[in-house]
Amino acid sequence: MNQSPNEADSQGAAAPPELAEIPGLAWTMLRRAVADRRHSFRTPTLCTASATDGSPRARTVVLRHVDPDTLTLRCHTDRRASKTAEIEHQPVVAWHFYDAKSRTQLRIRSRATVHLDGPIFDEAWERTALMSRRCYLAPNTPGTPSDGPSPNLPEDLIDGDPDRERSEAGRSHFAVIDSQAMEMDWLWLKHSGHRRARFAWSPDGSLTNSEWIEP
Ligand SMILES: Cc1cc2nc3c(=O)[nH]c(=O)nc-3n(C[C@H](O)[C@H](O)[C@H](O)COP(=O)(O)O)c2cc1C
Repeated sequence: MNQSPNEADSQGAAAPPELAEIPGLAWTMLRRAVADRRHSFRTPTLCTASATDGSPRARTVVLRHVDPDTLTLRCHTDRRASKTAEIEHQPVVAWHFYDAKSRTQLRIRSRATVHLDGPIFDEAWERTALMSRRCYLAPNTPGTPSDGPSPNLPEDLIDGDPDRERSEAGRSHFAVIDSQAMEMDWLWLKHSGHRRARFAWSPDGSLTNSEWIEP
């Protein structure tokens, strides 16, 4: 497997990449994380703004799909969870990734869209494994008070996954959060001095700014 200069640095070998190489390296790492469950970028923090007072809301999600051509970062959620209403209220979100192995942090501001139906939704639901579909059978709205430490699962699914037919009921709770990157802040930690760069893309996907900035 080809290592990016970032990844090679965990072995103390690499010089900083060229500025122009960084977006490609970052998107390669993000793509890799979708395929590799153990990659640190697989479970980023997604930040939204509260729909009531605009204050930040952060949570871990699973990175489900990345497309460098369209600058897409995608995760799945229960449509009843707070983040969907927050995105509808304020579509600009922030993703945070940190990979300790390569000592790389990415902060990506993106414009998000929530899909509740349509081709992207259908394809994502079809590809969702039974183990994940089980979560969407939660009887109660996530985040609402419960009498005790509730798993929010139907009684008969506490110890197992639903079969495919049963899992289809989860479809009405499923949502896809797609987002298109607008800006990326890349930070690479290194004993000889950290390196930091900033990038911006226009809505048509073209790179409009690339610059080194002080770490
Ligand atoms: C490792 C990990 C992965 C998670 N993945 C997801 C995910 O892909 N989608 C999701 O909606 N919540 C995921 N969660 C749960 C969220 O962090 C959060 O608790 C939940 O979505 C409710 O968030 P909200 O009320 O802010 O919408 C994950 C949590 C952990 C710890």
